[in-house]
Amino acid sequence: MTTYDRFLSPTGRHLHESAIRRMGTVTARAHDMVSFAAGYPDPASFPWDELRELATELLSGQDASVLQYGPTRGYEPLIESTVGVLSARHIHVPADEITITSGSQQGIDLIARVLVTPGDPVLVELPAYTGAISALSNAGARLVGVRQGADGIDLDDLEAVWTRERQAGGRVNLLYLVPNFQNPTGALLSLEKRRRLLEWADRRDVLIIEDDPYGSLHFEGAATEAETRPLRADDAEGRVLYLSTFSKTLAPGFRVGWMVAPAALVVRFETAKQSIDLMTGSFDQRMVHEAVRRGVLDRIAPQLCSLYRAKRDAMEAALHSELGAALQWVTPKGGFFLWAKLPPGHTDEELLARALDCRLVFVVGSAFYVDGTGHDRIRLAFSVASADRIQEGARRLAAAIRPVPAPAPVPAAPSA
Ligand SMILES: Cc1ncc(COP(=O)(O)O)c(C=O)c1O
Repeated sequence: MTTYDRFLSPTGRHLHESAIRRMGTVTARAHDMVSFAAGYPDPASFPWDELRELATELLSGQDASVLQYGPTRGYEPLIESTVGVLSARHIHVPADEITITSGSQQGIDLIARVLVTPGDPVLVELPAYTGAISALSNAGARLVGVRQGADGIDLDDLEAVWTRERQAGGRVNLLYLVPNFQNPTGALLSLEKRRRLLEWADRRDVLIIEDDPYGSLHFEGAATEAETRPLRADDAEGRVLYLSTFSKTLAPGFRVGWMVAPAALVVRFETAKQSIDLMTGSFDQRMVHEAVRRGVLDRIAPQLCSLYRAKRDAMEAALHSELGAALQWVTPKGGFFLWAKLPPGHTDEELLARALDCRLVFVVGSAFYVDGTGHDRIRLAFSVASADRIQEGARRLAAAIRPVPAPAPVPAAPSA
């Protein structure tokens, strides 16, 4: 039998696996598992009828380009419709600053390939999205965590971390963050902090990777919507690389996201993308473009906000009814996740082991921390499970947190 370890490159040997993908495998294997693990959209939100009609039309054979290779930077009409999606988010950019990517995950990976020098520090939030941790560390970044509070990244800690790295001779080029309904905390970066963060990036000569998959999924009406204004909207100095996606609003199976970057960098990202996948799938891009052009996205946007608000409410109510005050969390105003603090005496991994025995899966808090902490937290996704399953999941979580004491051993009957 051939063994393969000796064939692996240093990169291949040290590839960072996503904890969430690993949990996904657990869910797929087990019978009757309730999953609060993966941040999947609710399939009930997919506009099935409209997508079916679009697919039939596109596959009529009238237009061969639907199934043909196309430009690496993306299908031009989709780039144009993305200009419109962005301007609704107050970001006004020309089409040549946009690259269509295979999901926003690829955008993070392209940035990592083009801008990370192995061994250099890259700043991320404590906790941070695991897919970014994987992409950046696979490119050789040394990830350094910055604390965050209920209103997002802690700017004092950011300055302290930057200074420490600088004094140790490190050159900090990049800060990755998710300002809107962060994964995993659900936190919303305050408007005041957004303004100060842009000033900081300019003063310290750092580029910000702003990852924004959840900004349009807000639950408290226009006031919250105003609070989701992207950093890129006020970025006069070209400090922000903005990423977003159609995964959470239309369907993740299309693998269509996008990146906004200064034209001088776009050409580098395009070259990097050529060697990865040549282009994002033509059919996927066409489906997404038609969905945007025909107003499907605009039509479903308010429905998504009410759908996920109801699910957040269902999860909060279920946790209260099943667990009382055992868990603590800050109510997320948008997104897919509830970030819970465990009662004293529990750690994320021992609780997950017991939860799996109760057929419940979630993601351990420590998976999101680059400094090895976070064992007192768990991430509960309310996005995909139905209200009934959310209730059942909370019941199983309560059983895992308060294990039923084992029955006292019955004394052996005296033998006759
Ligand atoms: C913060 C964050 N960024 C990026 C992604 C990747 O999304 P996409 O499907 O667009 O690749 C996710 C998916 O969960 C996410 O939570």
